[in-house]
Amino acid sequence: MSLPPGFLDELRTRISITDVVGRKVTWDTRKSNQGKGDMWAPCPFHQEKTASFHVDDRKGFYYCFGCHEKGDAIGFVQATENVGFMEAVRLLAGEAGMPMPERDPRAQEKADRRTLIADVTEAAVAYFRLQLQSGAGTDARDYLDGRGLDTGARDTFEIGFAPNARSGTYQAMIEKGHDPELVIAAGIATKPDDGGTPYDAFRGRIMFPIRDARGRCIGFGGRAMDPNARAKYLNSRETELFDKGRALYNHGPAREAAGKGHSLIVAEGYMDVIALQQAGFKGAVAPLGTAITEDQLKLLWRITDEPIVALDGDKAGLRAAMRLIDIALPLLEPGKTLRFCLMPEGQDPDDLIKAKGRDAMKALLQGAEPLVKLLWRRETDGKEFDSPERKAALDRSLRQAISLIPDQSLRHHYGQALKDLRFDLFRTRRKPQTDFRPGFRPRNAVATPRPDTQSSALAAGALTGTDLRHALILATLCLYPDLIDQFEGQLERLEPSLPDHARLTGFLLATPERNNAAIKEALSQANLSQTLENLTNLGHVRIAPFVRAPGETEKAAQCLAEEFAKLSAERGIEDEMAEAMEDLGHTDEDRLNWRINHALQARQRAQAPVRGDGSGASDDESALSQRLRDLIDGEAWVKKTR
Ligand code: UTP
Ligand code: MN
Repeated sequence: MSLPPGFLDELRTRISITDVVGRKVTWDTRKSNQGKGDMWAPCPFHQEKTASFHVDDRKGFYYCFGCHEKGDAIGFVQATENVGFMEAVRLLAGEAGMPMPERDPRAQEKADRRTLIADVTEAAVAYFRLQLQSGAGTDARDYLDGRGLDTGARDTFEIGFAPNARSGTYQAMIEKGHDPELVIAAGIATKPDDGGTPYDAFRGRIMFPIRDARGRCIGFGGRAMDPNARAKYLNSRETELFDKGRALYNHGPAREAAGKGHSLIVAEGYMDVIALQQAGFKGAVAPLGTAITEDQLKLLWRITDEPIVALDGDKAGLRAAMRLIDIALPLLEPGKTLRFCLMPEGQDPDDLIKAKGRDAMKALLQGAEPLVKLLWRRETDGKEFDSPERKAALDRSLRQAISLIPDQSLRHHYGQALKDLRFDLFRTRRKPQTDFRPGFRPRNAVATPRPDTQSSALAAGALTGTDLRHALILATLCLYPDLIDQFEGQLERLEPSLPDHARLTGFLLATPERNNAAIKEALSQANLSQTLENLTNLGHVRIAPFVRAPGETEKAAQCLAEEFAKLSAERGIEDEMAEAMEDLGHTDEDRLNWRINHALQARQRAQAPVRGDGSGASDDESALSQRLRDLIDGEAWVKKTR
């Protein structure tokens, strides 16, 4: 689709880039000069504490003196909202009140029809509001009074009343000159199968108009006043305008409030949104009688990075949150997440505000928990992890959940956060069970190798490659089963690539045996004796002093600690590299250099824990750093010649 000449210029003059950027950054008020449109903030595109990100409101451009990102308002929206050019233009045009040109005549026709339908819904809003003022609306007004909905809120939310008549609303629309077919298409009335007079969709209900982000009325929610009514709430059926899964109640006003710094709160129902708004929480929205959908999440994230989901404090509310996690995980991005705040049992925000006031609500919102915390609770609440199988099952479910996150670095941080939670859980729960076992020592005792062990024959030895490390680790644990408990957590993260290694890992994690004779027997039962023998026959494994002579538990433990430390350091580099490679595809030279430095620093960090002074790197480490350099050089060269 092409835009008419002058459209973009007009758009750029109508919007203020300061407003657009201002939603994503915190201005450095001392450095900025608002009057001159000369604005400074810490850069949203790279990590920094100082404000090197500059916006020139008059020219309509931004530029970062740190990472050299630059562009106009459209480019900024593209980059921060992760949308294409046209979508960015559409978003900004919507804000600027500029209608987007239609694609083709058919689309034009469709748009015309949608406009006509919206005319009907708009007329219905007016009609319902009038009815609320009329004699027919007496009970409805009493009901609203009883619920504390003052006239201010009634006006703000355009609350109305649909009288209890068979086709009163339908007739009123016809009398106003609307095409009967459009009244039905608007979801205001329904055509009976027998072809008789259409009847009203809403009868005897308090009416809540639902508007889209642009303010068009696309449908209604209707609440029965009669507590025995068949459905407490009735929402418009899906129409050409109304797509429940893509709409949010109070979308436009909440977006505006969020732009002014209000939290974006996702509640469950109409009355919650209104109560929140009345209490000063103006960034409240709600889905429309369904669970939050993927599309709604995307809408929320267009408004703000961290919407807060306010959950009803009952089992159903919690279940809904748990389902929401699975919808959210594949959509998470760095910076974009959800927070959850749990209402007291049996209360929704409306109830809570009425019972305890806005401060209670505020406190709850401030204590909202990050998504990762809820994920953790979902997998662990009410469960006991008193066996290797249960622990392994937990790890598997957590791994599966994390694997849904598309961004590599975010996935990594989720892994870290969950690892910490997991460590706390197992440390506190396992103590009484494992303390009495011979050979058990707290994990921390070997978490970092002591300096005097670092020049052991093995650390400097001829091992190359992750597989050989795995072999040494697995053989050692088979020969010293009383060390399994100590290294269990690290063993679970081993991720061996060779099938034999995977089988042995699984065996070690599952076996309850902790003495040599018993584990030998168990290995043979599991048909793994030969597998183990193959490992101990490998040169690197065979020469280890504690493999040659049994009973050297101390040395074996030191070796395991070192090997695991190296593995995790190498994994750190891989992650950094993967990220750097991703960046290579689409960033400019300076950012690339920054990246390369970052990766190199990671390499240095990776070497540090195993070799304090960074000197005398072993073969595998220099091989690794060489590979790293080659990769970077190769890619950087490709990039430069493009
Ligand atoms: P709730 O049953 O939690 O009601 O439904 P509520 O919001 O607390 O409403 P009040 O306070 O009793 O008036 C939450 C939301 O679920 C949808 C509506 O969108 C409602 O706002 N819902 C509920 C329906 O669509 N149909 C129903 O029958 C009930
Ligand atoms: Mn309620």
